[in-house]
Amino acid sequence: MEHFITGLPKLELHLHIEGTLEPELMFALGQRNGVALPWPDVDSLRAAYEFDGLQSFLDLYYLGASVLIHEQDFFDLTWAYLERCVADHVVHVEIFFDPQTHTARGVPFATVLGGIERALQAGEAAFGISWRLIMSFLRHLSEEAAFATLAEATPYLARLHGVGLDSGEQGNPPSKFARVFARCRELGLPVVAHAGEEGPADYIWQAIRELGVQRIDHGVRCVEDPALLSYLADTRLPLTVCPLSNVRLRVFDQMAHHNVLRLLEQGLCVTVNSDDPAYFGGYLGANFQALADGLGASQEQLCRLSLNAVEASWLSLADKVRLTRDIRLHAALHGVSLH
Ligand code: ADE
Ligand code: ZN
Repeated sequence: MEHFITGLPKLELHLHIEGTLEPELMFALGQRNGVALPWPDVDSLRAAYEFDGLQSFLDLYYLGASVLIHEQDFFDLTWAYLERCVADHVVHVEIFFDPQTHTARGVPFATVLGGIERALQAGEAAFGISWRLIMSFLRHLSEEAAFATLAEATPYLARLHGVGLDSGEQGNPPSKFARVFARCRELGLPVVAHAGEEGPADYIWQAIRELGVQRIDHGVRCVEDPALLSYLADTRLPLTVCPLSNVRLRVFDQMAHHNVLRLLEQGLCVTVNSDDPAYFGGYLGANFQALADGLGASQEQLCRLSLNAVEASWLSLADKVRLTRDIRLHAALHGVSLH
């Protein structure tokens, strides 16, 4: 199975680049930039990765991001992630960055974008990994702050492929950002939003009806509303599910209770993603492996999850046809039949 998973062409559609900051790089950048961290060493930092929910993780994640200051830091961060993609046979990535996490500390928008984009371009040239970049608003901040960030991003909009919404979900419903998302759509940017991770099924409806999303990030609490489940199955509006994240953040108490395969069998366009892999115990390959080990996912189901990611991606039709063929070829070579 391990060999099958490694060779399966995979796409990542839900990844926060700040969530790929490994403890070793966090300490190296802290030293390079003279930023003190509240842990004496890498091991004690790792020992702090015991989360009782989304907020306890976010507190650590925003603190860790404080070592990212220069364009080269954002390049190094993104490059390290792309090297993991090569090892996992990830062929296409659509990644989030949180500009407000950095601009609030005085790091210019152009510095953040420039470093991430330069690494993605270099990764495409060196490894053939295609990419899209999604600017994400922090939902614990105000609508006004989101509009200010959109204004700051205006000179760079042609370099962004979409807009997202992340951070603490409870008490920050999608409706809070209906106006700023309407403006983003007017500007021609496709939009996505985290919803139904810790928040209720109604937040998923809000993201659909009030934000006009193309995909839902997480969305696993859709099971609480049968009408929503039917809607998602009928429309195939994709959910970017993150299995290891959900267990680490206690959305499910163990992998054996995760609902992603049930959703797959009910006809939803669910995909597998790693969210913040440096914090949650593994990159995309490890998330596929966790579904095999913890949920008994078959090779056929893993192939369908990867095919769903092709369908849910923002690739051109020609690229979708090519990747569909590559995944089907991988299945056929392993005697897996896809119907
Ligand atoms: N930011 C980074 N990871 C996140 C997650 N899993 N949910 C919400 N905001 C996030
Ligand atoms: Zn996320």
